[in-house]
Amino acid sequence: MSISDSPSSPTGPLTAESAVPESTASAAGSKASVKAPANIAFIKYWGARDLRRALPSNPSISMTLRECVSHTTVEHLPRTDRDEILLAGADGSLAPAPEGFAARASAHLGEIRRSLGAGGGFRVATRNSFPSSAGMASSASGFAALAVAATRALGASLSDRRLSILARASGSGSAARSVLGGYVEWPRAMAAGEDESDAFALAPADHWDLRDVVAVVETEPKEVSSRDGHRLAATSPYFARRQELLPARLEQVRRAIEERDFDALGPVIEEEAVDLHLIAMSSRPPIFYWSPATLAVLAELRRLRREGIAAWATMDAGANVHVITRPEDEEAVAQRLAGVPGVSRLIRDGVGPGPELGAAHLF
Ligand code: DP6
Repeated sequence: MSISDSPSSPTGPLTAESAVPESTASAAGSKASVKAPANIAFIKYWGARDLRRALPSNPSISMTLRECVSHTTVEHLPRTDRDEILLAGADGSLAPAPEGFAARASAHLGEIRRSLGAGGGFRVATRNSFPSSAGMASSASGFAALAVAATRALGASLSDRRLSILARASGSGSAARSVLGGYVEWPRAMAAGEDESDAFALAPADHWDLRDVVAVVETEPKEVSSRDGHRLAATSPYFARRQELLPARLEQVRRAIEERDFDALGPVIEEEAVDLHLIAMSSRPPIFYWSPATLAVLAELRRLRREGIAAWATMDAGANVHVITRPEDEEAVAQRLAGVPGVSRLIRDGVGPGPELGAAHLF
């Protein structure tokens, strides 16, 4: 089954390139709404040089998704210094967000205020197009949405580069990649400046139509956060080895994307995802994200490939398997994955164009 968000009419991809205040945003009552997508990494961010600032140990490359989005409305309230963070229901209802979530969102809004020299508070409402029970990480899309909508609500139209840095300042590093569409690289920070780690586009979404069929095998929040995974990564004896392997692997992925070479891309992304989990499992203390159903999906993919259907797995810090495939094989892949024991649902997604402004206001 594929998923979709509430009806609204996005006006197009975000292409702002200047820091010129946008008068329409302020004329509209300092309110802005955006849908920002999740992304799936082909080369993973795993391990940080500075975890608080989400400065990664290694470059990463991702594909921005189309269907899994966070839909967020932000209103700037100049006459208060409090933030109000709400969760929006599918029926239009608004309810206070859980405390931990609200605190993280408010801390991120604080970074945005500081960066733009703004005061006041924000009223925020947000909801995800993907069910929270699907065990999908939502921080990348959520924080990218917050960065894009809050800066617009303040009347600023920032470059992708500044938006990427602001999204990253949430502490969810992968959010740095979600402000862009298509295929995205987020380099390791350059020595020159502490804020120099921002993502850039490798290729737009229409360069290569790839699909992501997510086999959902886990519906509970993961036991160990990505943050703890990053913190422990360097305790694995294989962490250093992966750093040695990465330059060649990054180059293979860049080239495969450029040449739309799926036979070159598939094996390297699966190998890379397994390495992340190898490092997690050999960290001290070890972290086991996989479930028996994860292995069952991987075995089914090997069977599919023997039958000539090209489908390759990648897994984030969790048990769910993102199966990357070409459009012509998507249906066959979905049918086979639906029959694997332990797969509770499928989410069908694909490469997407990045954040879209002009989404319906949630309040
Ligand atoms: C395994 O620190 O961005 O997904 O804040 O939980 O989204 P969250 O995690 P973050 O680390 C992402 C880790 C990863 C790999 C990746 O997306 O690059």
